[in-house]
Amino acid sequence: MSELAIDGGKPVRDVKKHPWPAWPVWDKNEEIALLEVLNSGVWSYNGPKEVEFNRMFADFTGVKYVVCASNGTVTLQLALEALGIGYGDEVILPGLTWQATAATIIDVNATPVLVDVCEDTWCIDPKEIEKAITSKTKAIIPVHLYGGFADMDAILNIAKRYNLFVLEDCAHKHGGEWNGKKAGSIGDIGSFSFQLSKHITAGEGGALTTNNPVLAEKLDALRNCGRRPEGDDYSTSDKGAGVYSDDGNFIQSGNYRITEFQAAVLIEGLKRLPEQNQTRDENGIYLNSLLSDIPGVLPMRRDERETKEAYFNFSFRYKKEEFKGLPVEKFRQALESEIGIGVDSSYEPLNNCSLYVPHTKPSRHKLSEKYWKDIDPARFDLPVCKKIHEEESVCIHHKVLMGTKEDMDDIAKAIRKIYDNTKA
Ligand SMILES: Cc1ncc(COP(=O)(O)O)c(C=O)c1O
Repeated sequence: MSELAIDGGKPVRDVKKHPWPAWPVWDKNEEIALLEVLNSGVWSYNGPKEVEFNRMFADFTGVKYVVCASNGTVTLQLALEALGIGYGDEVILPGLTWQATAATIIDVNATPVLVDVCEDTWCIDPKEIEKAITSKTKAIIPVHLYGGFADMDAILNIAKRYNLFVLEDCAHKHGGEWNGKKAGSIGDIGSFSFQLSKHITAGEGGALTTNNPVLAEKLDALRNCGRRPEGDDYSTSDKGAGVYSDDGNFIQSGNYRITEFQAAVLIEGLKRLPEQNQTRDENGIYLNSLLSDIPGVLPMRRDERETKEAYFNFSFRYKKEEFKGLPVEKFRQALESEIGIGVDSSYEPLNNCSLYVPHTKPSRHKLSEKYWKDIDPARFDLPVCKKIHEEESVCIHHKVLMGTKEDMDDIAKAIRKIYDNTKA
């Protein structure tokens, strides 16, 4: 039996000789596009690249309207504002997600209600949503996490019965498809991030997708200091619905615009995305088939309604009982040493998350004693999220899935090697 790399043995993969695919991906086309923007002198503010990207991303996602903003945190906040969510309202979201999904609810003075996730997809559990609904609930935010897809049929059904908005957090799901419909086109609004690790990236950036012209118009105004959109892109206007000021022209907001440099890079990235998603999907299926033979390694459940996968991470569940009790963090370290790429845990559950700490800002959030209590993340019990984070989660960035079948063989070999070294 060969010695583990973490104990000084030879790693399965020599990354100096066989580096993993690089991320981000770019080529001459980005250079040309960036120079074009530079030389045009039109560097921001509804420029031709932003308009072109909005159209391309709308076609790609299968929606009528796209509005870009500076990142995928701001997009969530603007979406909540456009939906009219604020003080006194409750918004249900999964306890396992990036802190922004919850923090933005607090930023609009509403109350995040954390619920547990399904253990085999790590996405929000519809049964838990239903239990958490009260007369104050206004919206549900499903997050399509890592490689999973929230059960949108069940969520839409609940939303319809209780008259709730659905805001899809698609920061991990650019191009993923549920029953033939793209992530971001299923709920009322979709929110995307273009931060560096995401499927398409401009370093930072975000986009909002919707089929609703009233919401699109509000979102456009909200990301642009409250200005009513120029021209007549939206077939309806919202005068009188309480969004604009009395003269119907402006609403209070700020500057959340993207630049033409970002839009230029996003256009080129989007051209590559379908093929990249396809490669990741094929490799993910192949790698999962290899892993399913290893005891203690449980591939994530792929719902049959997920007609197109769009991996953000390649993840699986680990069972230490089959690895002689080796704790998951030690397993991740051992795997990282074998394959030479970062192997992470899931996000920290939001009821105990070092980056989701609303009580550190009393001067901003202590609107009343009741609100202060309501936004205490520790009041929620999330046993499945806790188990995933502390005992089971193994996550690797999607770039590992952009290589060859031999690359996938290396990952499976490394896990098998750890198994052989630890099994009883
Ligand atoms: C699920 C989820 N939502 C929202 C965001 C926020 O996006 P951004 O980093 O662009 O602000 C992220 C970022 O990682 C995320 O993972």
